Amino acid sequence: MKCTAIVLAAGQGKRMKSSVQKQFLQLGDYPVLYYSMKAFQDAPQITDIILVTGEQEIAYCQETFVERYQIDKVSAVVAGGKERYNSVYQGLCACQGTDYVLIHDGARPFVTEELIERGIDCAKTYKACAAGMPSKDTVKIVENDQKVASTPDRSRVWNVQTPQIFQYALVKEAYEQALSHDCSRITDDAMVVEAYGNHGVWLYEGSYKNIKITTPEDLEIGEIFAREIFGKKK
Ligand code: CTP
Ligand code: MG
Repeated sequence: MKCTAIVLAAGQGKRMKSSVQKQFLQLGDYPVLYYSMKAFQDAPQITDIILVTGEQEIAYCQETFVERYQIDKVSAVVAGGKERYNSVYQGLCACQGTDYVLIHDGARPFVTEELIERGIDCAKTYKACAAGMPSKDTVKIVENDQKVASTPDRSRVWNVQTPQIFQYALVKEAYEQALSHDCSRITDDAMVVEAYGNHGVWLYEGSYKNIKITTPEDLEIGEIFAREIFGKKK
């Protein structure tokens, strides 16, 4: 059974407001992107890794992650697109004869081998699943002027993470459908399968440490996690 990890690193990181794209910023001893690449490299269930990055960053990624850090499961480094869903689709098109794909945000460094294994087990049962954790905060739905419109029952609100794992043909076909419709509200892969996959999506337990590096505060927390989780693992 072939499981391909698609690691997304083609974003501009506008919310980080840094001149260097956030996935390439230093976190502890390594760039942000290194940590998740290393987790997929070390996870025995992962057959290969497709790294999706900006056209201009392909050579840097090849030199840094494939050669310098010896992430030798990388089967392709491909150019992404304008939006996240465009980058995912480029990654899906670069897959070769794979059974399952794990779509992962390269800006989410603290995915672990254990989480990857649990996700793949879930995908084998349900065909479509995403890591998630119960929301700690109460969530409000608001109008344009920030007037509260409603409050969903917190016990049913989960924050979704990555890896999001799918049977390959199911997610590829769902993306092809989605791309011929209005994609402007798509923010994750589960949404694509929910809308166009004609198939349910299940959540498996992620981790409160599986944060996405999005704004500068996340780097401060990330420094602590990087030291704690990977400090000894060199
Ligand atoms: N991503 C991508 N291609 C894009 C946009 C995003 O590969 N066109 C990737 C990012 O590199 C990141 C992941 O998708 O690893 C999650 O996206 P997000 O956190 O939104 O990152 P950015 O889009 O880079 O950040 P921002 O939205 O603040 O600009
Ligand atoms: Mg974004």
